[in-house]
Amino acid sequence: MLMTPGTAGDGAGPAMPAEAPPEPASTLDRVVAAVDSTSPAGIAAAISRLIRSGALTSGERLPTVRELAKALGVSPSTISEAWQALGSVGAVQARGRAGTFVSEVPEPSTPRRFVGISAGPGDQGLDLSTGTPCPDLLPSLRDALQRVTEGTEQWTTTYLDPSVLPELEAHLTASWPFTPESLTVVDGALDALARIVDLRVHLGDRVVVEDPGFPPLLDMLDRAGAELLPVSMDDEGIVVADLVQALGSEPVAVFLQPRAQNPTGTSMSIERAAALADVLQGSHVIVVEDDHSGDIATGEDVSLGVHLPAQVVHIRSYSKSHGPDLRIAAVGGTADVIEPLRAGRLLGPAWTSRLLQAVLLELLTDPTAIGQVTRARAAYAMRGLAVRAGLAREGVHATTGDGINVWVEVGDERAALLSLAAQGIKVAPGAPFQVEPGDTDHIRVTTGLLHEDDTDQFQRVISAIATAAKAATGSRGI
Ligand SMILES: Cc1ncc(COP(=O)(O)O)c(C=O)c1O
Repeated sequence: MLMTPGTAGDGAGPAMPAEAPPEPASTLDRVVAAVDSTSPAGIAAAISRLIRSGALTSGERLPTVRELAKALGVSPSTISEAWQALGSVGAVQARGRAGTFVSEVPEPSTPRRFVGISAGPGDQGLDLSTGTPCPDLLPSLRDALQRVTEGTEQWTTTYLDPSVLPELEAHLTASWPFTPESLTVVDGALDALARIVDLRVHLGDRVVVEDPGFPPLLDMLDRAGAELLPVSMDDEGIVVADLVQALGSEPVAVFLQPRAQNPTGTSMSIERAAALADVLQGSHVIVVEDDHSGDIATGEDVSLGVHLPAQVVHIRSYSKSHGPDLRIAAVGGTADVIEPLRAGRLLGPAWTSRLLQAVLLELLTDPTAIGQVTRARAAYAMRGLAVRAGLAREGVHATTGDGINVWVEVGDERAALLSLAAQGIKVAPGAPFQVEPGDTDHIRVTTGLLHEDDTDQFQRVISAIATAAKAATGSRGI
């Protein structure tokens, strides 16, 4: 018997004709059905709801302006306005004659680079993967808290007080590397970076970043949908020729770390800052400087803001010098970034705890605390130097860094991590810091956590790193 579609082959009687699946509604029909207000804002809101619910998917072509205007009985300019509103928040993208498309919006995802820093093996034993300051070298927050709270019964009583304690603002402004147009206090450098990215970096924008760079910043920029333009570094900072080339791609911002760059430890020279400023002069590019290591760096307090005060935003964190749990950084520079940032925080945390601001001011002015930070700076410098000198004797290359980390070249990242883990030492893998895979693998070692008086530990760590640097499995990356 000849089998034809819709014919049962088991002799069980005449088959029912198969039901054709319903035709999916066209994009135009779905949009028209979703619109309940034909104002530009109403149309934009309906399309946003369709995108959020998944009824319109990334890459889908939207109806033409004419088609939709006709179907909704509105003028084409109403639709154009709706498209513009959607485009300005990155929900849709106009691609010339090809039409307007639902954007490829990156999913809010786990910050993979951030998580990757501590994802290596070796959880038990000595953890040199953290990039955090040595607890023994931090001034006592408890003592400072006690001093500032003594005899004070009341803290903030109104939401309308200035967001920064006036005495702290005066102190910060006086210690800033240039005269900032505006300055405020935030909950750590990460808060400042996240808010600046939010304000200034939009889907498809190009942004210059150091390579290697700070993994959480790279995650933030990825999430914003930015295109990264990596520039290389030498031992004075960003290579000028690389910046010149990157500027040809018309970036909106340059993100850099002026001192003790994480992970390389590079501190920018005054001359390099001037040369970079020269290249940026006259452009619309903003420079975001993340001075995350602040007072524990031995490098000069350098900033491009000296040359370009209207283009630079400078962030100074107090996490490395006074403790990450203080959660305080200051951000100062061009008012057209700082003022929207301050305003944006009004609808969030509103201000950074004035109690903690008072603790910071106490620590910045108390001679004992100042002495502790000075000693910490010297201790970190000695610890870094001792490890680098030890590694050099073993033929291992590490950057001549400032601050608490050393960036070490290894034959194979994974083999190095495993070799160190076998010795009870955990370090950070290099891959999350690298914007583009380099020719060589690296690990980042937080030397700031090693005590200089424990020479046995120093020697054990140096030998273990030297062995790890030469270990090979042939598999690159983790
Ligand atoms: C380059 C860089 N920026 C920012 C931060 C975070 O600073 P904060 O604790 O002030 O948020 C770190 C922390 O290690 C860092 O290395």
